[in-house]
Amino acid sequence: MLTVITLSELHATRRSFQGTVGLVPTMGYLHEGHLSLVRQAKEECDHVVVSIFVNPTQFGPKEDLSRYPRDLDRDLSLLDSLGADLVWVPTEQSMYPQGYQTWVEVERITRPLEGSMRPGHFKGVTTVVAKLFNGVQPHKAYFGQKDAQQAAVIRQMTRDLNFPIEIVICPIAREPDGLAMSSRNVYLDTEQRKAATVLYRSLSAARNAYENGERAAEKLRQIMRDVLATELLAQMQYVSCADYDTLEELETVTGKTLLSMAVFIGKTRLIDNFVLG
Ligand code: PAF
Repeated sequence: MLTVITLSELHATRRSFQGTVGLVPTMGYLHEGHLSLVRQAKEECDHVVVSIFVNPTQFGPKEDLSRYPRDLDRDLSLLDSLGADLVWVPTEQSMYPQGYQTWVEVERITRPLEGSMRPGHFKGVTTVVAKLFNGVQPHKAYFGQKDAQQAAVIRQMTRDLNFPIEIVICPIAREPDGLAMSSRNVYLDTEQRKAATVLYRSLSAARNAYENGERAAEKLRQIMRDVLATELLAQMQYVSCADYDTLEELETVTGKTLLSMAVFIGKTRLIDNFVLG
């Protein structure tokens, strides 16, 4: 496995690849969720490139970039053991040099849900992902369903800007008790870690109701709120029952639907979702 930092090293290695290239963009501190993306990319592509870059432009002023967990040595040894071909670890200076002023912004679907809570977040995500796509020029790029809105926004950007890249969305990796894997889970103490299963329990309750015939979206949202309210350590930010593609809130569930939520457990903000239909 090769590790490169500069764009010229990246380009030189990329030119040496023959066959299909899969990109797994990450911010590092890899967990099973990331590793499952790398495994899927390995199955489907001749070469797998992983980028590790904690992108400062997707953090809001109140979100602590310096607190974001990092462990590059561990990440590199995990990626090596999975057989990744190339890891690109760009510097902040090379991604956003002095005088940088170009942004990629997707409009409507970035406004609700995460977009309404984290202004500017998706502008940072789409800008960096476009730069990663341009750098690596992959045939396929792999993202997790855990960040459901991010996945929808990147699909939209890829269509709108004609990137010749197939976007592959992989299922959420979960702990045995249902908690969705996330780099942020390390912030939870023992009590909070137990409380954090309330997201999965709440989504499961709404899905059970759906499977028993409930189609009123507000009823499903209320079921999720009711379960969240049973957990004292949980502070709900939003629950949503929205169209899977447009992310518009529904009145009645008819087609593919995204149940999603953001919840604070202590100071840690967790998100999770289920897809129905
Ligand atoms: O999902 C992430 O880890 C990040 O948002 C991404 C896609 C790597 C862009 O920085």
